[in-house]
Amino acid sequence: MMRRPVRVAVTGAAGAISYSLLFKIAAGEMMGKDQPVILQLIEIPQAMDALRGVAMELMDCAYPLLHTITLHDNVEDGFKNAHYALLVGARPRGPGMERSDLIEVNGEIFARQGKALNDYANRDVKVLITGNPANTNALIASRNAPDLSPSQFTCLTRLDHNRAKGILANQTGATPRDVNGIIVWGNHSPTQYPDLHHATILGEPAINQVDMNWYKEEFIPKVQQRGSEIIQARGLSSAASAAQAIVDHMHDWVLGTEPGEVASMGILSDGSYGVEKGIFYSFPVRCNYGRYQIVQGIELNDFSKECLKVTEQELLEEKAVVNHLLPEETAASHDNLSICLRSGVTLYADGTGPDQDSKFMTTNRVM
Ligand code: NAD
Ligand code: LMR
Repeated sequence: MMRRPVRVAVTGAAGAISYSLLFKIAAGEMMGKDQPVILQLIEIPQAMDALRGVAMELMDCAYPLLHTITLHDNVEDGFKNAHYALLVGARPRGPGMERSDLIEVNGEIFARQGKALNDYANRDVKVLITGNPANTNALIASRNAPDLSPSQFTCLTRLDHNRAKGILANQTGATPRDVNGIIVWGNHSPTQYPDLHHATILGEPAINQVDMNWYKEEFIPKVQQRGSEIIQARGLSSAASAAQAIVDHMHDWVLGTEPGEVASMGILSDGSYGVEKGIFYSFPVRCNYGRYQIVQGIELNDFSKECLKVTEQELLEEKAVVNHLLPEETAASHDNLSICLRSGVTLYADGTGPDQDSKFMTTNRVM
């Protein structure tokens, strides 16, 4: 029997990332080849003509899994009953800018979107923030959604994870599928820490297969600065690779990480690895049953500990800048992450879905 369609809302749907992303979703690359989707596409009013053009192209692909497309010029309509919300729409940076330069222009957008998700989305909605600065925008959105669990909000650091994997594979002559256990810690910014200490290539420790100088002096800065390098080369920020990373992030969250593999996801810190609570930080996670779990017990040497601190510090500074967008009423839930979570199952507007005492509804440290 065909599954019931799920509702995927996408903001910035006429933008560059979405021009790759929407076609992947409609083709079943994100939610699975047996999962029909309803695309709820959202843009600003001035971009609705362009959005209609994208919708026509989607229709012209005649994707078997594309159930319905709806177009919206406001998030309140666009997020209605959404099971998944991909918050892509925001201003990208240009040459010479840092992502944090976007805090002022983009912050307000995410406060409104958090409120709209709170008021209109499915109670079980899973949210991924891509618009930059992604971690801090995720914090803003989540803090403005008092009735949703903070664990339902995530931000995109999978692009950094994929970049690290691709660059390591290229350096060592491996293929990306041979590489496991990459971790990206912290902020989606130049302070992020791409950590190879737990990575393997064909089952052997990656760190033994690269020169330590290359790792510290070339690899780490290259991954950290890859966004800028692409902007300089293309004149525009990465788009197709960002779309692929969004698909990978959501695919793993919903359908599970490969056995034995970890993914990097920006999520609300619960204090793991000494990272201060109340900020969105990229951690190594495993996903199962539609939820993510921080991989515990990873040994960190002094170098790694220092790198984790640097990026944490930057996130705390970003948080201070947007403090006026963070309502006080949600401070406690974010500083003491509740482990009773709703993000594990897909609920429909007619109330169907697992009942509240499903064994997957509450759990320890699984989000
Ligand atoms: P783009 O300018 O091509 O498209 C953005 C679209 O968002 C535009 O069509 C714009 O009209 C729309 N938009 C703006 N405000 C909106 C709102 N309030 N509601 C709905 N739509 C809105 O940009 P892009 O290249 O698609 O990038 C989008 C964002 O993603 C940027 O902030 C960029 O920096 C970020 N990004 C993040 C990552 C990551 O790894 N986290 C990677 C690449 C890009
Ligand atoms: C990226 O990493 O490519 C994006 O965040 C875009 C940017 O501004 O770097």
